[in-house]
This record gives sequence, C-alpha cells and structure tokens, in this order.
Amino acid sequence: MKGCMHVFSIGPIQFKNRVVLAPMAGVCNPAFRLIAKEFGAGLVCAEMVNDKAILSKNDRTMKMLYVDEREKPMSLQIFGGNSETLVRAAEYVDQYTNADIIDINMGGGKIRTRLNETESRDEIVEILTDYVDKVERREKEKLAAKAG
Ligand SMILES: Cc1cc2nc3c(=O)[nH]c(=O)nc-3n(C[C@H](O)[C@H](O)[C@H](O)COP(=O)(O)O)c2cc1C
Repeated sequence: MKGCMHVFSIGPIQFKNRVVLAPMAGVCNPAFRLIAKEFGAGLVCAEMVNDKAILSKNDRTMKMLYVDEREKPMSLQIFGGNSETLVRAAEYVDQYTNADIIDINMGGGKIRTRLNETESRDEIVEILTDYVDKVERREKEKLAAKAG
C-alpha cells in the first residue's frame, strides 16, 4: 500500500499517487470518477468514447465528454476508425473539453481499431502526436506496471 502513495507522471501531468481508476465503459461516468477521486485516486479515466460520435456531435456522446474541475487530472479515452477520424476527434477533445490526457484505445475484441492497410498502430500514434499535445505514447499494461 505504501508504494501506491508515490507520485507518478505522464508527460507534464503529475499525479499525487499511483492509484488509477481504469477506463471502464458503462461505469466511469463523471459521478463515479468524482467518487473515486474523493476516495483518493491519483488519476481517474473516463469510459471510452467513439470518434465518429464525437465528430457528429451526438447528444449522448457530448455529455460523455463532460469533465468536472474537481476530478482533474483525468484521462479521456477515444476509440474508432482510422487516423483521420481519431485525429479529428482528439483535436476536438483537446480544444473543447477539460481532459488532461487523451487515451487512444486500440484494443482487441469488438472494439479493435479498423486500421487502414497502410497504417500501423505506430503510424497512427505518430500522426496523433503531431497534431495533439495531450496524446502520449504509453501502453496501459506498461502504465499499470509503472503505477503498481
Ligand atoms: C466493465 C468494464 C469496462 C471496461 N471498459 C474499458 C474501456 O472502456 N476502455 C479500456 O481501455 N478498458 C476497459 N476495460 C478494461 C479495464 O480498463 C482494465 O484494463 C481491466 O479490467 C484489467 O484491469 P484489472 O486487472 O485491474 O482488472 C473495462 C473493464 C471492465 C470490467
């Protein structure tokens, strides 16, 4: 438990301890994140949000982008189609939300990013970091190992 209390950082963002609320779809809404924060979490992550739903300004999706000042620093996760839609969605999150970190979900299973044949994950991350400062190259398992 003592180890959890050490500070850690992602890019310029520093967290008061290593306790992280993982991104969980259907769970990590602003109210839940705030509760986790009040119970001492150093970093809270939001549930994943679809890039195309952000670009089409879907009502429900816009609500998912709400970040309360008290839950900062926080990380907002997006997932979706290809580098073009991800970059445009990341730029939107960067400019119009209160998120400190933009997390790109390229995970497996049903939500696997449908990569263009010419685009590898590395290329997508490279393109994203060219456009948006808040995207940092960290993999969740490695981040968990660092935090834990
Ligand atoms: C209900 C639920 C929803 C999840 N949704 C997401 C998600 O939106 N994005 C994501 O990257 N991982 C998601 N995950 C995976 C978790 O973030 C985490 O990586 C996983 O539970 C393993 O962590 P653990 O070993 O501490 O359980 C979800 C997990 C659960 C149980």
